[in-house]
Amino acid sequence: MEAKDKHFKRYTITSALPYANGPIHIGHLAGVYVPADIYARYLRMKGEDVLFIGGSDEHGVPITIKARKEGVSPQEIVDRYHEIIRDSFERFGISFDVYSRTSAPIHHETAADFFTKLYKKGVFVEKRNQQYFDAEAGQFLADRYITGTCPHCSYEKAYGDQCESCGTSLSPLDLINPHSTLSGNKPVLKETKHWYLPLDKAENWLREWILEGHKDDWKVNVYGQVKSWIDQGLQPRAVTRDLDWGVQVPLAEAEGKVLYVWFDAPIGYISAAREWAAETGKDWEPYWKADDSKLVHFIGKDNIVFHCIIFPFMLQQEGSFILPDNVPANEFLNLENDKISTSRNWAVWLHEYLDELPGKEDVLRYVLTANAPETKDNDFTWKDFQARNNNELLAIFGNFVNRTLVLTHKYFDSNIPALENLSEADEHILALMQAFPAKIGHSIELYRFREALSELMNLARLGNRYLTENEPWKIFKTDPERVRTVLAVSLEITARLAVLSEPFLPFTSAKLRKMMQINAFSWDQAGNKQLLSAGHQLGETALLFEKVEDSMIEQQVQKLLDTRKANEAQEEKPVKPQKEAVQFDDFAKMDMRVGTILEAEVVPKTKKLLKLLIDTGIDKRTVVSGIAEYYQPENIIGQQVVMLVNLEPRKIRGIESQGMIMMAENADGKLCFVAPSEAFMNGAEVK
Ligand code: 2FM
Ligand code: ZN
Repeated sequence: MEAKDKHFKRYTITSALPYANGPIHIGHLAGVYVPADIYARYLRMKGEDVLFIGGSDEHGVPITIKARKEGVSPQEIVDRYHEIIRDSFERFGISFDVYSRTSAPIHHETAADFFTKLYKKGVFVEKRNQQYFDAEAGQFLADRYITGTCPHCSYEKAYGDQCESCGTSLSPLDLINPHSTLSGNKPVLKETKHWYLPLDKAENWLREWILEGHKDDWKVNVYGQVKSWIDQGLQPRAVTRDLDWGVQVPLAEAEGKVLYVWFDAPIGYISAAREWAAETGKDWEPYWKADDSKLVHFIGKDNIVFHCIIFPFMLQQEGSFILPDNVPANEFLNLENDKISTSRNWAVWLHEYLDELPGKEDVLRYVLTANAPETKDNDFTWKDFQARNNNELLAIFGNFVNRTLVLTHKYFDSNIPALENLSEADEHILALMQAFPAKIGHSIELYRFREALSELMNLARLGNRYLTENEPWKIFKTDPERVRTVLAVSLEITARLAVLSEPFLPFTSAKLRKMMQINAFSWDQAGNKQLLSAGHQLGETALLFEKVEDSMIEQQVQKLLDTRKANEAQEEKPVKPQKEAVQFDDFAKMDMRVGTILEAEVVPKTKKLLKLLIDTGIDKRTVVSGIAEYYQPENIIGQQVVMLVNLEPRKIRGIESQGMIMMAENADGKLCFVAPSEAFMNGAEVK
């Protein structure tokens, strides 16, 4: 991925609007909000004009279903979760300029106007067709109001809009053996009318705009998924629904119909900007309409099609809006080797974390960034959380800062010594230090937040090395002048850490600035040789990070174990007995390598087979694998796999398959990749 040179005058940064039917968990944070916040904070420190947008997505069937289950109104549900979500974001330091909601009147107006504009331009295609209807409930069955068997993977609880087992997006008519989730009854067909967005007409434009225009600057996972959607052929999508919760379709003939949640939700970003403008007296339009504004959408990978294809097409058809410059979507974060799941309560919930581990906001921000699922799915474990706190934040960052401040206090009464009598080695260290803002900034601008954070830690490492090499505590008696210089240099590094840590660790940065009694410097000032003046008095020193004890981790792990136990009690599955023993020599004959899936497509006229092109490190070869029931081709591009490469090639449906991919069955009976624990070189041997 490369950065483009164009300079932008303002930045419009959006973060996916979370559904207001549950709280926020670490998966949301790692995928969307922490990277978006780092980006926004960094740009503000660069002096850029930033509008960072968030808000709750308050429409959609899951919300009405939850309301019905609890016997309350949908508004009550969204009021409850909007507040929990908004407050926990605030406590966690997500620095939105506006946090809005899609049930707000300004959003209903904005979304309805947007629809009307497209309608008047003749963009939509009107279709009358038969849709499922629950006669008992007197309601059409859109999206999650209907379940049935997935035609792709035979999962029996697929929803009308999506199969959660194989990830395919569906329409209710695709389901085999459909049932109403309202009454459990078999639905009947009834005619209705809807408005469709003709995505089939977007293909050439999308190919030019994304596949040619963003080949080098969009992330590989995003680009690959978009390409796969386009290559499979885009279909018109209904943007209206027969429901009573949502934005009313602004047409007289559409009474009782609302906009599809995925039509109105991204318009929520625009409504939020309008709300912000009304509150601040600013003009929202340049942020959405001026060519010198940069629009960036932070999302998780399940939202790619909506933010890279559907919403941009809506914006383009409307005609007056800019398009996203980038959509740096992340992959997913797992928890203790298991998929985060709201229904199984397998998650670390932000509001609970904030209550149970007060003062540790930055530790979580650090862990989620250091381990961010930027290029592949990653795993959060409490052991890793502890290790990163104790061995990195505390032992590297905290230790350097603490040594510097404590020694300055001890030898010079917390009075900053002059930066003078610099040796060649000191000058060298200062020069290295001055390079960090540009280095870290470069990584952030390329959306490589892990890399940026690791550079920040390298600055602390540089400081530690400098202190260890100079040992001021040993030479103070014999050479106090030299100690003055060493601490002056160390304090400059410390001040740099206070400035450059702000986007990643805002609470720590504020604490450190207070301890040093320094102002908020700009990002570029951190590239100067000297920030501090001699004689400046430091404030009181305190520890930046505390050790995370085993007991704290054990408590959190126990909480998860209890959840798992409860889940397992629901579903006991026998494990197959061990097979007959084999000789080591037999095992050693198998040549297994790590490879990466480059291309994937369904083998024509089959339901179960995918034809994959795999980079094995040795070569690029074709493998036919019986996993089409479990994975959508576009979702597995870039997936690393373990593969048996020296299996005798064999023809499957006329295609020569040159190897076999290792899979394991999960608790739901789904075949899943046995994936390497970290990114490996293709061709790495599995032994
Ligand atoms: O996937 C989700 O959680 C959606 N609520 C995201 C919406 S993003 C935007 F379009 F509003
Ligand atoms: Zn399925």
